[in-house]
Amino acid sequence: MDTFFPEKTVAVVGLGKIGLPLAAHYAEHGWTVIGCDINSAVVDIINRGGCHVDEESDLAERIAKIHAQGKISATTDLVSAAQKANVVVVIVPVIVHEDHSIAFESIDSATHLIGKGLQKNTLVVYETTLPVGTTSKRFRAILEEESHLSAETDFYLGYSPERVSSGHIERDLNKYPKVVGGINQRSKAAVEAFYGSVIDADLIVMESADEAEFVKLIETTYRDVNIALANEYAQFADAHGLRAVPSIAAANTQPYSHIHIPGVGVGGHCIPVYPYFLMYGDSEGLSLPRRSRVVNDDMSIYSAQRVSRVIGDLHGKKTLILGVAYRGDVKETAFTSAKLLREAFMQAGSEVFAQDPLFTDEELLARGYTPFDSNQASSIDAIVIQAAHSEYNNFDFSQFVNCKVVLDGRASDRPERFAELGIKYITIGDGYTECVSSLSSALARNLSSLLP
Ligand SMILES: NC(=O)c1ccc[n+]([C@@H]2O[C@H](COP(=O)([O-])OP(=O)(O)OC[C@H]3O[C@@H](n4cnc5c(N)ncnc54)[C@H](O)[C@@H]3O)[C@@H](O)[C@H]2O)c1
Repeated sequence: MDTFFPEKTVAVVGLGKIGLPLAAHYAEHGWTVIGCDINSAVVDIINRGGCHVDEESDLAERIAKIHAQGKISATTDLVSAAQKANVVVVIVPVIVHEDHSIAFESIDSATHLIGKGLQKNTLVVYETTLPVGTTSKRFRAILEEESHLSAETDFYLGYSPERVSSGHIERDLNKYPKVVGGINQRSKAAVEAFYGSVIDADLIVMESADEAEFVKLIETTYRDVNIALANEYAQFADAHGLRAVPSIAAANTQPYSHIHIPGVGVGGHCIPVYPYFLMYGDSEGLSLPRRSRVVNDDMSIYSAQRVSRVIGDLHGKKTLILGVAYRGDVKETAFTSAKLLREAFMQAGSEVFAQDPLFTDEELLARGYTPFDSNQASSIDAIVIQAAHSEYNNFDFSQFVNCKVVLDGRASDRPERFAELGIKYITIGDGYTECVSSLSSALARNLSSLLP
């Protein structure tokens, strides 16, 4: 390793929920860390030995300790950080726009600055999830243009997907094999040497950076396609008076079956987003991921249909969405299914309100929702539980005296408490038989084509 990096100084670009814990991890593995961020408030906090990332339980103490040891500093000056570092790890987010085009702006801008400071024999490695070929083509071109150096002979360039989950980063870093790849043989060796020095888990060395990028898109897109299959099983179950979740659980006792559970939609930064990274530049292929995105997004329409089968036409009815976060107990709304549900119920003629214990009324309004006011409780006809927040365990459903149905979109609640209140409790794929008699003709046509 020393032949590649005699100085052991690493610049970590992007000190967010992933970047800061990584920086701490590298410092604890003998590296001197220069943290880089465009947010000067973040940089100031780190330089005072503080920590702005709350998700990792012991991170604040770890940062204070490595700061006191002089092992971490931070800067907004990416050019000088790149000049000083032997390794530059980039973990600046890449997201998709509303139209699903990919927003490279932030990471491109970081790459230009890194290129300006890049020195001979430095390794630049990207960890952000990326479309296949981004490191070896897009970033290589920027780095070479800015530095006037060659990735073939002067510096090293690689990719290693970040496979950790926020909240469990140390656990995941120590548990999951680290997948790495370089754009050529010498870069591959440099990437392997760096991660061998900071990662205690196994390394999986791929043939190229492109392959390492592909690995991350495979594992995330798999989950979207899997959930789409679960959602289609659920619709089949509803149409035939079958219970999807216990049936899937029974099927999964066979070791080759790993079906996820159905629900009202798929939200978050990763699962509904990365299939678009995979499709980037591939307008023809990948029919299953493409179709799965449609199936999962259309669960909002299916949810409105399920509710309407219990309470009739939704025109003039009032629906309450519980939880605008993309999943339970996180205050984040990236690609939340709540948005699609709101649209689907409004399209069906319902007035839609939203409640979320993690968001203020102002925050709900800013996201386009009409906040629920408990004075309106008696006018609510239907409720959809979209995010399974723990706080809903003690939520007072008795205030909804005229509510006829609760669609528990995450099958996470206790049916008996709704039975006591005389509210019909349904889940996606519960086989609630009234659905069979009132199947939409389109769905019935689709199903009849599947039946013998
Ligand atoms: N959050 C997760 O659970 C998770 C899990 C696996 C992988 N990832 C990967 O990690 C990436 C980063 O996620 P995160 O949760 O840490 O994001 P984050 O939003 O918490 O942090 C990103 C940081 O990058 C900084 N930044 C933005 N543009 C910059 C630039 N041009 N130069 C320097 N700094 C810049 C921001 O100021 C912020 O501090 C994701 O895009 C994803 O690819 C995230």
